[in-house]
Order: sequence, then C-alpha cells, then structure tokens
Amino acid sequence: MLDAVRRLTAPSARSDVPPFMVMDVMAAAARIEAAGGRVIHMEVGQPAAPAPASAIAAARAALASGRLGYTETLGLPTLRARIARHYRESYGVAVDPARVVVTTGSSGAFILAFLALFEPGDRVAVALPGYPPYRHILKALGCEPVAIETTQATRWAITPDMLLASHRAAPLKGVLVASPANPTGTMMTGEALRELLAAAEGAGIRFISDEIYHGLDYAFAAETAARLSDNAVIINSFSKYFCMTGWRIGWMVVPAPLVRAIERLQGNLAVSVPTLSQIAAEAAFEGRAEMEAVKHGYEENRRILLAGLPQAGFEKILPVDGAFYLYADVSRFSNDSFDFAQRMLAETHVAATPGVDFDPLQGGHFIRFCYAGAAPDMHEAVARIATWLKR
Ligand SMILES: Cc1ncc(COP(=O)(O)O)c(C=O)c1O
Repeated sequence: MLDAVRRLTAPSARSDVPPFMVMDVMAAAARIEAAGGRVIHMEVGQPAAPAPASAIAAARAALASGRLGYTETLGLPTLRARIARHYRESYGVAVDPARVVVTTGSSGAFILAFLALFEPGDRVAVALPGYPPYRHILKALGCEPVAIETTQATRWAITPDMLLASHRAAPLKGVLVASPANPTGTMMTGEALRELLAAAEGAGIRFISDEIYHGLDYAFAAETAARLSDNAVIINSFSKYFCMTGWRIGWMVVPAPLVRAIERLQGNLAVSVPTLSQIAAEAAFEGRAEMEAVKHGYEENRRILLAGLPQAGFEKILPVDGAFYLYADVSRFSNDSFDFAQRMLAETHVAATPGVDFDPLQGGHFIRFCYAGAAPDMHEAVARIATWLKR
C-alpha cells in the first residue's frame, strides 16, 4: 500500500534541490517576534521601501479601469520600448526593443534563458559564493552547474583564466555572472567583465549576465554586458533598485536569434507576465528620483556598518561595492556559519544569513547581512553585535 502511494506521489529526482537555510533563521526570528522580541531583519535580500509612487498610482488606475487581460507574450510593447530607452539613458547603449523580453522577475528569466540556451547535460559555470537558485534551477532543468570557486585575489569574480581552465578540464556550454553580486556585494570592473565575456565568446561559451543589482553601485559604475556583446543574455529585474520584489517583474535583453524561441517558451509556460505588474513597471521609470533617495539610504547604512562592524569584531568584510549586502568573515568565531547565525539571532535578535546557503565549500566561514533596512536599525544591530562578541 505504502509502495503504491509512493509510486504515485514521490517527488522527481530533479526536484530534489536544496532548500534555503535562511528559512530556518527566518522561522526562528518569527518565534522570537511571536514571544514579543524585536528582531532586526538583515537576513532577507529585499528593500524595506515601497515601489515608486508612480508605479503604485499606475497600478491603481489600471485596477480602477476594470479589465486586465493577457498581454503580448514578450510583454507590453510600451514597456519593452521603455526598457530599451533605459539602456540609452543609463548606459548610452542602443538596444532594439525587439530584443527585450518582459519576465516574471529575473527568476522567470533564468528558466527561459536556460531552456533557450542549453540542452540537458550541458555544463554551465557559476561563481562560488553565488546566488543558489542559479545552481538549483540549472539542476532541475537537467543541466550541470559547474561551481568555480572565487577568491579575494580576483575580487570574488570568475576570471578568463579560471573559466578557460574549467573549460579545458571539461567543456562548458555557458557561464553566468552577477555584478554587483549576491552575497558578496562585490563588482566586476568594466574591464574585467569585458575580458571575461571576450574569453567566453572566444571559446564558444554562452554568456549570461545577471544585472539585477544595477543602479545600486557605490564604488564605481556597473557595466552592462549589453554594451559589450549582442550575443550575451542580459537579465534584470524591477525587484531591487525599484523596490518591487512582490510585483514579480523583470526583463531580459536577448540575442535576436533567440527572441522567437523565448516567445514560444514563455507563451507555453506562462502565456504572459502579470499585466498589472507590467503597467506598474513601466511607470516605475518615472520614479527614479524617489529610488535614488532610497539608494542614498543604503549608502548611509553601508557607511554605518563598514564603520561599526569591524569595531564590533567582524574585522574581515568583503569589498562592499554594490547591491545591499555585506559578507563578513566569521571564522574568528566559528566555522559553522549556520550555528553562528542561529546563536547570534537567539542572543542578539539580529538575523543574518549563513554563508553555507551561498557556498557549500567556504560558506561555513561567512555570514551575509542585508542592509536594505532603516539606518537606526543599522546602529542598533552594530551595538547589539558588539556587546555580544565582546562577552
Ligand atoms: C543575484 C540575484 N539574482 C536574481 C534574484 C531573483 O530576483 P527576482 O526574481 O525577484 O527578480 C535575486 C534575488 O534575491 C538575486 O539576489
């Protein structure tokens, strides 16, 4: 009987992807809050600020108008044109709106990109530490994620030498990079991105650039792969800079020969992307002044943490170039970042993410703080951690 039920209901092997360990931290934080404690949330990678007022107003107006039907599979033509204009305005790069695909967050874009670019069994390089869903989505789709361990010497980025050495060991079909990166917040210089892209394309390795944290750069301006090649797939989102995580809306700029394939895939997988979110996203571009003010808040938070955390005891922090993350080396205190994050939460009520979520090899030595919250909370977090570490 049990066997029969198992035959009918056992999950597939491809669905066996690891969960986020931060979920356990979040559950523990919720228990503290239920008991009346005040947790400073620095574990979840999302802005505390709302979407731009222009986006919310446009969504309200669209709701009031009544009917929301499907849109074109590749996205509202006006939104695709507005995204193309964004490349001209922000980077001085001409992008044909026909190459822009609106997606359900960048998460939806990864699925489409991987399906359109790769066959089952294809090997795709990603950096460690890195955003775990890259590896997990690739695996669920039958591709093989190839983790390339990065170091401080390369600013935690894959270099041409590392990529080509991996390719020689066993051929790669693709490589995915993010700059600014999650969890490190480090960025590749324009030159480093250009060299890696040239090396990849020279070796026939398809290039995907996750540019979701663009706009949130503090050390130097982020470069877009759209300037460097028409053959790369660029992925971006309204979630981070535009504070629209819950709207689930993002985009891709894809090579012209892939547009029709992606249209077929998205048409079958989703028909189209939520219409209300598309309307709001188009209007979000009018809210840039508001979002720049939010970014200045992150800059202030970054300043508070970079001044305070080393004094509190976290002396080794990776370069904090962009995004809203700070990846701190805790190996002075523990080699088990999951246990460390849990103890820190229990004893200081500051929630952070254990590095093992991002790097199964070295992540035991690191925890990630998200500083997208309010400045007084940053001061408070530093004070609580300082008291705790000095005990
Ligand atoms: C590097 C990176 N890429 C992609 C995503 C997914 O974002 P979304 O699907 O909301 O666009 C995240 C979310 O945290 C991220 O950190």
